[in-house]
Amino acid sequence: MKVLILGGGGREHALAWKAARSALVSEVLCAPGNAGTALEHKVRNVAVGADDIDGLVALARTESVELSIVGPEQPLVAGVADRFEAEGLKCFGPKAAAARLEGSKSFAKDFFARHGIPTAGYATFEAIEPARRYIAGRPLPAVIKADGLAAGKGVIIVHTADEADQVLRGMLERHDFGDAGKTVVIEDFLSGEEASFTALVDGTRIVPLASSQDHKARDDGDRGPNTGGMGAYSPAPVVSGDVNDRIMAEVMRPAVEGLAADGIDYRGFLYAGLMIDEHGAPRVLEFNCRFGDPETQPILFRLRSDLVAVCLESFGGEFNDVKLDWDPRAAVGVVTAAAGYPGAYEKHQPITGLDGIDSDTVKVFHAGTRLDAGRILTNGGRVLCTVALGDSVSQARQRAYAAVGKIHWEGAFCRSDIGYRAVARERGTFATGC
Ligand code: AMP
Ligand code: GLY
Repeated sequence: MKVLILGGGGREHALAWKAARSALVSEVLCAPGNAGTALEHKVRNVAVGADDIDGLVALARTESVELSIVGPEQPLVAGVADRFEAEGLKCFGPKAAAARLEGSKSFAKDFFARHGIPTAGYATFEAIEPARRYIAGRPLPAVIKADGLAAGKGVIIVHTADEADQVLRGMLERHDFGDAGKTVVIEDFLSGEEASFTALVDGTRIVPLASSQDHKARDDGDRGPNTGGMGAYSPAPVVSGDVNDRIMAEVMRPAVEGLAADGIDYRGFLYAGLMIDEHGAPRVLEFNCRFGDPETQPILFRLRSDLVAVCLESFGGEFNDVKLDWDPRAAVGVVTAAAGYPGAYEKHQPITGLDGIDSDTVKVFHAGTRLDAGRILTNGGRVLCTVALGDSVSQARQRAYAAVGKIHWEGAFCRSDIGYRAVARERGTFATGC
């Protein structure tokens, strides 16, 4: 069968690579894909944008695609899964009503409150004066979030009343985030260690994936501006067996039951961004209606089961009985980005050194790349995510950085400390609360 992957980033390269390894799959189409997917065995790029819903439906029909898997959130929020279902096409991704869990932070917070899912205390505002009064009565730091999609940039931690004022003015008066910031959510600040937890959901049943931890800040030590993610590793040691059970019991099951109770049919990846406190209690920072980027890359590199078969089971089958098989080794993914990212960056730089890196234990997943007359050029802010397996996070990390060191283009940079919390645990030097 043919499978269609929507999107063209690192997550989509990993999804396409994984789908192509399924014995059920003859060909994977990527719309639009990147240089990595273009060069992948059994994978073909098609020049249709992930937001071009009419074009995607036409493509799925013409190519007799039997399963589509959606990478990014925008097409989901825009209703791509609704359209595919209406056309009788199988699309693994939630419909627009369910994608609001990611598309509107106030909707998500109200959903958590309604269904008893642990999260930070919050209030929602559209006018600046009541927002100012509210924040004046809360402890600082506090967190101000633009309600709508803001590519990871609409969340700001404020430490003083002045800072809070600046941010509220920016969002509610100057409309720095456009419509996304017309409503703001003000949250209490949570401390602890973050983890990402993703599951495949078929409306009522949940198949959890391995845990992971993302590194959102641009610079070592979690400093500098927030990005889409500078690296990730799996599993995340903070998600011990007990914490895993608590996440399932306190977050994932109430969420899926809550969606069903609210009449929202959810099929697709459900991603919880969590803060785990020192007692192992999980609290939800956000829900995403898709797989994380870059979490997908190390997680899928560890997955031995057939992802396509599992996604197909969600359309009626034995989803309940799915038991995923994981490589017990750790995987670490290091993102290499273009100079300037997450601000303005240059494109079209030739990338060298990629030949011969991929092996059973190392894989370079492309994100912002494109092919040009046989050369691989940079084409985005996050350019590559190099993933390696190892018997420990330390070994996986050492292998990933050894591979990253062979790759070059003008202005390339990466963090040098991906996985540092897990490595500190392995060395016995980990202190909680960092
Ligand atoms: P979000 O997009 O809502 O997950 O927020 C992006 C990042 O901001 C998270 O990964 C956290 O690092 C941080 N963050 C968000 N909400 C909170 C909170 N209530 N307390 C502490 N940090 C937060
Ligand atoms: N890496 C975080 C996300 O995909 O939202």
